[in-house]
Amino acid sequence: MSTVITLERSNGIAVVTLNRPDKLNALNAEVLDALDDAFTSLASDADVRTVVITGAGPKAFAAGADISELHEQDAPSGKRFAERGQRVFNLIERLGKPVIAAVNGFALGGGCELAMACHMRFASTTARFGQPEINLGIIPGYGGTQRLPRLVGMAKAYELVLSGDMIDATQAHRLGLVNRLYAPEELVAQSVAFAEALAAKAPLALYACLEAVQAAGDVSGLEGLYMEASIFGRTCGTADFKEGTQAFLEKRTASWSGR
Ligand code: COA
Repeated sequence: MSTVITLERSNGIAVVTLNRPDKLNALNAEVLDALDDAFTSLASDADVRTVVITGAGPKAFAAGADISELHEQDAPSGKRFAERGQRVFNLIERLGKPVIAAVNGFALGGGCELAMACHMRFASTTARFGQPEINLGIIPGYGGTQRLPRLVGMAKAYELVLSGDMIDATQAHRLGLVNRLYAPEELVAQSVAFAEALAAKAPLALYACLEAVQAAGDVSGLEGLYMEASIFGRTCGTADFKEGTQAFLEKRTASWSGR
């Protein structure tokens, strides 16, 4: 495997680490290819139930798309450049398993967009977020203009995308961009502990939760409710549902079979 990311699996979870610390984990084509390969393999790995993604080094989660590669783009290739990043980030969002971004430093441009494609963001108190593309004469291209407003609302999204200003972890937490804040030395351990707790839950129900909540971002309210009822019905047909309710009635811990 390429060294620009590392992938470790244990206790039902995988930890993916962006590994170009000397370039603040900037996302070049090699990193996107490696993420594509890693998440494609994680999607079909039944032993992995949840994923944590973080950045190597003390400074950055990811400082964005690699500006030296970006500089070479023209209008047609720029569209393909954005679509490539969007495909990889959509794969992460649609993995069918919870993905937690453990944001350990700068999450700028594509780095912020990668974090937003994850289902939750836990951040160190030293993290900083921003969409600085305006300062390069472009706009966010890896999903930022679409995912940021859904997370923080239109007004704050306009402010961040138009100004290119960075916000600190506390501000990001207040806006709802970040779920939880941790001291830098605790971030990965706490993210892994949370991922392990999710990995112990009923696998089909975890998948169903992701599918139903994702529908809220994709379809109208009425369609979403229809989907919710259908997915709810599907989970009622699982052996895990019978086991979970039976275990409650018998005052014991449920044992999930994933069926
Ligand atoms: N693409 C390519 N290289 C990047 C990069 C990026 N997005 N972000 C940082 N780097 C590289 C720097 O060029 C530098 O490499 P060098 O040591 O070979 O010169 C190295 O990472 C360290 O970055 P540096 O700028 O020296 O660190 P800093 O602490 O002074 O500043 C930032 C940190 C994040 C404020 C600054 O690196 C920055 O603004 N990066 C670009 C952010 C951005 O615009 N992202 C959106 C891209 S679409």
